[in-house]
Amino acid sequence: MRYNREDIISTLKLRLSKKRFTHSLNVADAAVRLARHYGEDEEKAYIAGLVHDICKEIPHSEQLVMARNCGLSFTETEALAPPLYHAPAGAYYARTVLGITDEDILMAVRCHTIGRAGMSPLEEIIFLADLISEERDYKDADKMRRLAFENRDKAILEALRFQLPDVMRKQSFLPMQTVEAYNFYLQKEKENQ
Ligand SMILES: [Fe+2]
Ligand SMILES: [Fe+2]
Repeated sequence: MRYNREDIISTLKLRLSKKRFTHSLNVADAAVRLARHYGEDEEKAYIAGLVHDICKEIPHSEQLVMARNCGLSFTETEALAPPLYHAPAGAYYARTVLGITDEDILMAVRCHTIGRAGMSPLEEIIFLADLISEERDYKDADKMRRLAFENRDKAILEALRFQLPDVMRKQSFLPMQTVEAYNFYLQKEKENQ
């Protein structure tokens, strides 16, 4: 299916700050490169990358209502963590406003912050693209960029190894999906040793 890229990009421009707009384009670009590398659907990767943060600048109270109605499960633990709302809210927005019906794209948007056990290739690509987009300049960004193209499972595990303690350090609530993702990708790594 072809999506109307121009319409989505102009909606993003209206909804996001310049900085987050650039981030979204960069994530879409990274997602396409990962999809090409791994033989996955580049169009879906581009669209999911574009829209993943589309709700991030809406007030949390509105994000929460959208998240609860995303139709892709939203847990009470997530409801305790406002920074996580934008992902399920984004899936809701993509479905109801942008008319995106592809469940894989919607799940990729929904899972991009917290992950889950057994993500689809597209979900994994968006999870990683968000961490390796061009403007990211955290300490190990280049290492993560290399790893994302070498071994998706390992890259996700590495990201979760950083993410879990970070959530705890910030005294934020830890969604079970992230813990389950960690166990899932750790088990995969151990099986491949
Ligand atoms: Fe996000
Ligand atoms: Fe993002």
